[in-house]
Amino acid sequence: MAVKKICCIGAGYVGGPTMAKIAQKRPDIEVTVVDLNAARIAAWQTDDLPVFEPGLLEVVKEARGRNLFFSTEVDAKIADADMIFISVNTPTKTYGIGAGRAADLRYIEGCARQIARVAKSDKIIVEKSTIPVRTAESIKKILSSADTEASFQVLSNPEFLAEGTAMADLEKPDRVLVGGERTNGGEAAIQELVDIYASWVPRDRIITTNLWSSELSKLTANAFLAQRISSINSISALCEATGADVDEVAYAIGRDSRIGPKFLKASVGFGGSCFQKDILNLVYLCEHFGLPEVASYWQQVVAMNDWQRRRFSTRIVQTLFNTVSGKKIAILGFAFKKDTNDTRESSSISICRHLLEERAKLAIFDPKVSPGQTFQDLGQEPTQAGGRANASIEIYEDAYAACKGAHAVAIMTEWDAFKPDQLDYERIYRDMEKPAFIFDGRNIADLQRLREIGFDAYSIGKPLPSDR
Ligand SMILES: NC(=O)c1ccc[n+]([C@@H]2O[C@H](COP(=O)([O-])OP(=O)(O)OC[C@H]3O[C@@H](n4cnc5c(N)ncnc54)[C@H](O)[C@@H]3O)[C@@H](O)[C@H]2O)c1
Repeated sequence: MAVKKICCIGAGYVGGPTMAKIAQKRPDIEVTVVDLNAARIAAWQTDDLPVFEPGLLEVVKEARGRNLFFSTEVDAKIADADMIFISVNTPTKTYGIGAGRAADLRYIEGCARQIARVAKSDKIIVEKSTIPVRTAESIKKILSSADTEASFQVLSNPEFLAEGTAMADLEKPDRVLVGGERTNGGEAAIQELVDIYASWVPRDRIITTNLWSSELSKLTANAFLAQRISSINSISALCEATGADVDEVAYAIGRDSRIGPKFLKASVGFGGSCFQKDILNLVYLCEHFGLPEVASYWQQVVAMNDWQRRRFSTRIVQTLFNTVSGKKIAILGFAFKKDTNDTRESSSISICRHLLEERAKLAIFDPKVSPGQTFQDLGQEPTQAGGRANASIEIYEDAYAACKGAHAVAIMTEWDAFKPDQLDYERIYRDMEKPAFIFDGRNIADLQRLREIGFDAYSIGKPLPSDR
């Protein structure tokens, strides 16, 4: 069977961009992305997409209406498709067994049951979501209970794209991973999916494995990436204590080809929907399989991240004479990283919450995150100024207004707009309360220049002002 119709369940950060790319590259395949969330599907039909990714709109516009469609008719599109991607959310479980660590697989199971209910012809089911090892077994079991003669093959095809560079990652992936059963039917299904990717990805970058290796590789990749961030962040604390400079240390070790330069940027900690949840999931799996030492090894990566965030907000409070109560603190950046409007697990959230506990007044500016999202993440409601403010939080439309009259500025996201060539730090300094404090949680400003301007300036892993 050559795949003619694809249905992707889940029109989120992964489902939307990946399907747009497949539709762009394979105009001969009809690709429909379905979701229960009607507002999200409606937004995908407009030029105001629900996901912000550089270059995404252009790709969507090229294929939309030609062979790329968005729909809420989940059952009909499942029934019609030859290949079904499951790209639904797999958040950390918040209740019952494994709460706070295990992946909540109810959406995955919901999809499997839905497919079992409506599918009447042969299908290839592709796990695109990140899931625990051996999830395919549960999916297969549910599908095998379906009242149909049709046959189903389950593949694992984890997504490695990074938000902010999703379109470039999809265009030129380091690798595409396809896992499947090592049976005739499994191999044939693997080949179908490989053939689709091979339309634009060089064959030597398409890796095929058994199902369990593929599922585990995704969790392992995220654990290794997050581990590098926690490792350099742990060293950043030692740098501050000793007068070493973490950027110099990172550069020096990154030149070692065995280590490499990427993911060695010290910061306020990693965020995003995946790293923490995937490591916790790995930890839970290790415990489940009777490997407590392995579990606690990986747990420490998350613990270090939490500590780094707390260390940053504590530094702000302590530096501002041990109280931020009633003080205006400007928060530059709320997204978990630049070039995305995604705030899930953003370090900004936990740091803002800590500062709010200390009764600071927060003045928040992010180029892409909406006021509604910000209030929701902070567990608060806007009461004034057209949904932009309440007694302790105000959301601003530009960085200068946010910083005006502030006691301190905290740079939380590495948006290019906050770089010294794009943001006038002298102007910010002039309009602030004095002494004017600045805490650069991303090491993107020029620390020396900030100090020359007059700021009491702090960065991550840099010598403290008293050590100069
Ligand atoms: N966001 C990333 O950068 C990224 C990268 C790689 C992998 N992943 C993984 O991909 C998966 C999806 O992540 P995301 O960020 O796109 O999530 P998301 O929350 O943005 O999107 C998931 C969508 O699935 C929909 N959905 C859930 N159950 C459904 C059902 N039964 N029928 C129809 N729609 C349903 C939801 O309404 C939601 O719109 C997760 O497992 C995640 O771990 C995410």
